[in-house]
Amino acid sequence: MVRETPGSGFAPGSAAPESLPGEGGPAPYVACSDLFKIFKLADLEVVALRGVDLEIAPGEVLAIVGASGSGKTTLLNILAGLERPSAGQVRVGARDLLHISERELVLYRRQDVGFVWQASSRNLVPYLNVRDNLELPLAIARVNRARRRQRSEELLTALGIEDKARRFPAQLSGGEQQRVAIGVALANRPPLLLADEPTGELDTQAAGEIFQLLGEMNRAFGVTVVMVTHYPGVAQYVNRVVHIRDGRISAESFLQSTFRRSGATVQQEYLVVDRAGRLQLPREYIEQLRRSGLSGLAAADLTEGQVTIKPAGNPAASAAAPVAPDTDADHDPDPPADVDLQHQLFRRPAPGEER
Ligand SMILES: Nc1ncnc2c1ncn2[C@@H]1O[C@H](COP(=O)(O)OP(=O)(O)O)[C@@H](O)[C@H]1O
Ligand SMILES: [Mg+2]
Repeated sequence: MVRETPGSGFAPGSAAPESLPGEGGPAPYVACSDLFKIFKLADLEVVALRGVDLEIAPGEVLAIVGASGSGKTTLLNILAGLERPSAGQVRVGARDLLHISERELVLYRRQDVGFVWQASSRNLVPYLNVRDNLELPLAIARVNRARRRQRSEELLTALGIEDKARRFPAQLSGGEQQRVAIGVALANRPPLLLADEPTGELDTQAAGEIFQLLGEMNRAFGVTVVMVTHYPGVAQYVNRVVHIRDGRISAESFLQSTFRRSGATVQQEYLVVDRAGRLQLPREYIEQLRRSGLSGLAAADLTEGQVTIKPAGNPAASAAAPVAPDTDADHDPDPPADVDLQHQLFRRPAPGEER
């Protein structure tokens, strides 16, 4: 799936990883493996994450996209230490978030992550001005007054809102409030910044500016950034877009430069094939396969490095039926059309595995 997007020239930041996890680059900063989250309601279990495999390099800027209810917030909340995983593995830096104690989890939330919510009212204290909002996390961490002031000055400059230090949140635009929220999240210099739909309440221009700012913060402070978003053009602001579907990572996409037109970039989308060989076919392909008879079984064929998947009809029924010489599958009078797998299969080798 190749989509052309206008080449507005995203240049990966200096803090951006030279290579992505699994490509022989640095050890991942975030590593999720077969991660499950099951919410238990009265007599009902909701499986929000069903085997997420995801590695994020230190200094990477990553966007998570997916339909509502696909598990994006659950994944982000686990990385934030706000929600406990049910099974699997999740490591952030040196911390194992599955086996972490409550005490350590509090420290993790305080020191290692900054979080930006969609609703800016949730990010800022309404009766504190911008400067005091920026200094609040430092006051909680018992940083002395002089150092608090130094850090808030630094943040005001980095955020480009020096002139708004004395304003209260209600006196700021939505975009400005989210700028301050990013500053609050970064006040304690956490190595990881998480943002759940940070531009959900903003117009397109203000949203673009927030993504731009997140990139600048990544370059200025080396912070790893993971954001959930519905913003259609987010690929130009990030190193990688991860698509989540039904609680699993289904695809990843990147912007790649093309030589077809100078400055143009192409968004290339790859299916993710996990360690167990599982992949999720794109929804539109499944629809197409259904129309050509897919009921639940498919036949896969590997030829010259390409996998072809064909609906298998109902092989159990034909196996039970008396075998007539011309019902052989090879002589099927109306064979289902081959499905052209345009998506490139993309598989990260397991550690130590030959490539
Ligand atoms: N606290 C919770 N209790 C029960 N079910 C939940 C809870 N949080 C999320 N879910 C369910 O988990 C699934 C994923 O939700 P969520 O992570 O919020 O998705 P997204 O952010 O992609 O919209 C949904 O089916 C949702 O209803
Ligand atoms: Mg959500």
